[in-house]
Order: sequence, then C-alpha cells, then structure tokens
Amino acid sequence: MFDYHPGYQSISHTERHQISSLHGRRTLLRGAAGFAGLALAPGLILPARARQPLPKVPYVSTPQDIVDRMLTMAQVEKHDMVYDLGCGDGRIVISAASRRGARGVGIDLDSERIREANANARLAGVQERVRFRQADLFHTDFSPATVVMLYLLFEVNLQLMPQLWRQLRVGARVVSHDFHMGAQWPPEQIVRIRDKTLYGWTITPELKQEIAGRP
Ligand SMILES: C[S@@+](CC[C@H](N)C(=O)[O-])C[C@H]1O[C@@H](n2cnc3c(N)ncnc32)[C@H](O)[C@@H]1O
Repeated sequence: MFDYHPGYQSISHTERHQISSLHGRRTLLRGAAGFAGLALAPGLILPARARQPLPKVPYVSTPQDIVDRMLTMAQVEKHDMVYDLGCGDGRIVISAASRRGARGVGIDLDSERIREANANARLAGVQERVRFRQADLFHTDFSPATVVMLYLLFEVNLQLMPQLWRQLRVGARVVSHDFHMGAQWPPEQIVRIRDKTLYGWTITPELKQEIAGRP
C-alpha cells in the first residue's frame, strides 16, 4: 500500500473540479500532460463492460528519472512482481529488477519492442528476473502482479480499469504516467515532475467487492 500518499485531498482544486466535472458531465478530460500532439477526443464514459474502438497508443518512452519515481511511488521492493502493460523497450520492468531486485513482466503488442526489451534485459544482466511477451494487454492475465505500471491513454485506462479491479489482489498498486482513470477511480496519490503527472492507486477490498457484483 502507498504509506505516504496524501490521499485524494491532495488533488489540486482544479484537478478535483476536472474529475468531478468528468463525473457530472460524463465527458472525457483532455489528458493532463499527454503525448505531444495527441489530443483526446471527447466522448462518453462507458459502462465498464462496453468495448469501444480505442485510439492507438504510440510508443513514447518514460524518462529514467520518471521511471525511478514511479518505482518509488509504488514502493517496489525485492518481493514485488511488476507488470508494465505496454512495456516499450522494457525500461520500467528492467529498472524494477536492476534497482529494486524485483521480478517483472512486460507486455507489448509490438514485436520490435519486445526484441529491444529482451536485449536491454540481457545488457542489464536481469534476464533471469524479467520476462517480455508480445501480447495484447486486454488479453493478458496480469493477476500475479503486485504492481502494475501504465503509460497508455485515458480512454485505454478507462477500459482497462475493471480488468485491473478484477484481476489484481487487494494491496496491489497501480501507477500511471500522465493519464488518470477519471472520477470512477480517483487516484490516492498525484506527483508532478516537470510537465509530467504520475497517478497512484491501491486495490482495496471495496473495489474487489464492487467488481465482484458486476456481471
Ligand atoms: C507510451 S508507450 C510506453 C512504453 C513504456 N511503458 C514506457 O513507459 O517507457 C506505450 C506502449 O504500449 C504499447 N501498447 C499499446 N497498446 C497495447 C496493447 N493493447 N497491448 C499491449 N501493448 C500495447 C505500445 O506498443 C507502446 O510500446
């Protein structure tokens, strides 16, 4: 669990307003500090099970100091299993292994990214502690994760949210680079670094109960 998170109260007035307007008006926010030039189209928040065509998530890597901060936010330690859903060149999972002694799994649609990630893991000498798989994150069992890292898009996060609630165990942490999950799942922790915003959540018994009640 995040033990130093300042809680939802730490969200700025503007951000709280945005999140509650999101809830009230059921419109999508533009990403707080999204990928340059990639505006999020307005649309409806959909019931959790509805599947909509999603925008393609481009490959943009997280700078190393932001990776380190994500690991700190999630309090990654040796016993953790860190999944990066959309892992790119594997840097988050590799850093979790090389800097924190954790194990990890990276999932990416793009075979070229998976090749790079495997090569980077070998270079870092952590190939025994990490695995990379070419797969669609929406068709992946990430239930072994104690930590999930995301750098996707708001719409993708929203669609993934029920799967996170369903698959992850109580106490698992989720950290997302630049994109939150809207009013349905307000972040417990928000950290701003330069033009970046990081959001942190923990899976609670209440979330597990809520998702168990959904068809
Ligand atoms: C913004 S990059 C983030 C890369 C890495 N996580 C990082 O922070 O450096 C998003 C990655 O997600 C991958 N991706 C997009 N949609 C995906 C999907 N449905 N399943 C698996 N990977 C996906 C893309 O190929 C891309 O490499």
